[in-house]
Formats: sequence, structure tokens, C-alpha cells
Amino acid sequence: MREPIIQLDHIDISFHQKKRKIEAVKDVSVAINQGDIYGIVGYSGAGKSTLVRAINLLQIPTAGRVKVSGQTFFDRKVNLKAGDLRQKRREIGMIFQHFNLMTQKTARQNVAFALRHSDLSKEAKAEKVDELLELVGLSERADNYPAQLSGGQKQRVAIARALANDPKILISDESTSALDPKTTKQILALLQDLNKKLGLTVVMITHEMQIVKDICNRVAVMQNGSLIEEGTVLEIFSNPREPLTQDFIKTATGIDDALVKINRQDVVKRLGANDRLVFLRYAGTAADEPLLNAIYRQYEVSSNILYANIEILDDTPVGEMIVVLSGQQVSSALSAIEAADVSVSILKGGQ
Ligand SMILES: Nc1ncnc2c1ncn2[C@@H]1O[C@H](COP(=O)(O)OP(=O)(O)OP(=O)(O)O)[C@@H](O)[C@H]1O
Ligand SMILES: [Mg+2]
Repeated sequence: MREPIIQLDHIDISFHQKKRKIEAVKDVSVAINQGDIYGIVGYSGAGKSTLVRAINLLQIPTAGRVKVSGQTFFDRKVNLKAGDLRQKRREIGMIFQHFNLMTQKTARQNVAFALRHSDLSKEAKAEKVDELLELVGLSERADNYPAQLSGGQKQRVAIARALANDPKILISDESTSALDPKTTKQILALLQDLNKKLGLTVVMITHEMQIVKDICNRVAVMQNGSLIEEGTVLEIFSNPREPLTQDFIKTATGIDDALVKINRQDVVKRLGANDRLVFLRYAGTAADEPLLNAIYRQYEVSSNILYANIEILDDTPVGEMIVVLSGQQVSSALSAIEAADVSVSILKGGQ
């Protein structure tokens, strides 16, 4: 098997403040493959930023091992020399929520600054800066200062700067959190494009599951310093195991809003003994409507669909439905549905 481009093994990171010990990252292991757009989600304080800062050793772990491009960056035995570390760090670009541009320098100068240690000639550097600004679609604004640029444009400068030393990895720490939805989409499209064009591996910290759904292929969920769930976006969206993961997914599918409305409906307020309000989720076409209809017929249950949503993730349809199922054999029908690889949660009825 191919070796992951980033491999974190049993990473612990703690901070000591006065007499208090803060365990920001606890025994986290994660492998990220070349070409992944890898999402890391979690609430504020979960340890996301601290964890990704260990990838380029901006944050030295308390314990564990960091391997990048097959080379051990850090473990108890290996401690790269400052010069080597600086060299290796250039293989990893980083962008942030607040862009971190130098306000006294133009877009061009901000990007050029990242090349100050490069061996390129002066002319080659200038050419490289032009290419980078072109790559992020900002050639016309090269001589503007950050104050003259919109948020999206500033983030483009920051991306060009992050790519100046041809990194194989780009870490994005909430890089779209300060942008409006339309600009967010444009920046995400740019990152996706760079991932395809340059084979760039992207590590994407976000608290928005929608972003994960839009561009990531894998995702890890962090809570209180631990990694609680990890998998392909399809796996996580079609079969989330942890309550926190389920919460995150609900915010991305709008199902929470739907539930509020559904709970107000008369059919739901007055469920009979043979009625169940259920949430069904399935991935792939195996368990689509014809199959469900066959089960309903077999067990003589009727269904009233209150909410349905199908999305294509990784070329696979993932369907979600909230339905009221009614009939004497409703429990058997639900077992048959579950046996057909549909995840079933009973939201109401049957107690
Ligand atoms: N340099 C530091 N010194 C002390 N505590 C720190 C330091 N950096 C982070 N922490 C603590 O570690 C924990 C994890 O912080 P971290 O910034 O990694 O969270 P996060 O998931 O990135 O949150 P957010 O979504 O708000 O950015 C928090 O409790 C934070 O207060
Ligand atoms: Mg953070």
C-alpha cells in the first residue's frame, strides 16, 4: 500500500498553565494520503488547530510521531536540526481565517516575501510571483495593498504566498470562516482546482460540515482533544456513529429545520399505536424507493413521506427521509428495512 503523505501516530499535546495542565490533543493517530482533501471538524477548543500545527511542527508534540512524505519529522529519537526543519516546513503551506498578510506590502510583495530564502534568481522569483498570482486569478490586483482588496482577494494572495515554495501540502485553518457564502464557494473551488491541477494534498479545518460535503474526500471528527470518528465522506455521511458526528451532519443537511416543522404537523402530534415517525438513511441505489415500496406492500404498511433529500457524494446517492409508517406489522417492516442496509431511527411512537 502507498505510504500516507502525512502520518501522525499517537500524538499528545499538552500545555501547562500555572498549575493547570491542558491536554489539547490526546492520543490522536491519523493518516492522510497524497491528493486527499482531508477535513477536520469539531467545535471550538476541540484541538484542531493544535493538531494540524504539529504537522509542520509549529507545535512540538508532547508525545507521538510525525511523519511527512515518508520522513520522520518528529519522535522521541528524531529531532530535526533547525535548518532541516525550516527546509521541511517549506513543503507545507498554510492559510488562515484572517489571511495574515503584511499590510505595508502589496499583493506581489507579500507573495515575493515567501521566496526570500529561495535559490531562484531575482528574475526567476519575479516570474514565479506572476505565475502564482495568475494561478489564483489575481494578476490584475498584483500592485494593490491588502486594504484595497476584498476578503476573497486577500485569501487568494495568502494562497499564492502559501504555494510559493511548491509545497506538497496545504493546511487551511478555517480559511473561509471570515468570508460570505458566495466568496467561500469561490475559494473552495480554487482549492479543489489546485488539488486537481497540482496534486496538492489539502488539510481543511472547518466547523462547517457543508464544506466537508462540498470538497473533502475524507473527514475526521474531533472532540475534547480526541479523534472520535474518521472515514470517507460517504461513510461518515451515510452512517455516522457518534452523536457529535450526527449533530454536525444534521446542520449540513438542514434536517434539524425540517424536524421542527414536522413536529408541528398534526399527523406527528397524534401518532396512533401502530404509527411510527422514523428517520431513514441509505447509501447507494440498493435501498432506494422501489425496495422500500416492496417492503411496505409485504407488511401492509402505508407511508407518509414528510421529508426527503438525496445527495450525491462521491458518485453515490445518499438518501434521507422522514416518514410516518402505519400498520399492524410496522415493527416487522422496520426490521426488514434495516436488514436492507437502511439505517433506521425511530423519532417518535411505539413506546
Ligand atoms: N499555546 C497554548 N497555551 C495554552 N493552551 C492552549 C494553547 N493553544 C491552545 N490551547 C488550548 O488547547 C485547546 C485546543 O485549542 P485549539 O486552538 O487547538 O482548538 P480548535 O479546535 O482549533 O478551536 P477553534 O475552533 O476555536 O479554533 C483549548 O483548550 C485551548 O485553550
Ligand atoms: Mg482553531
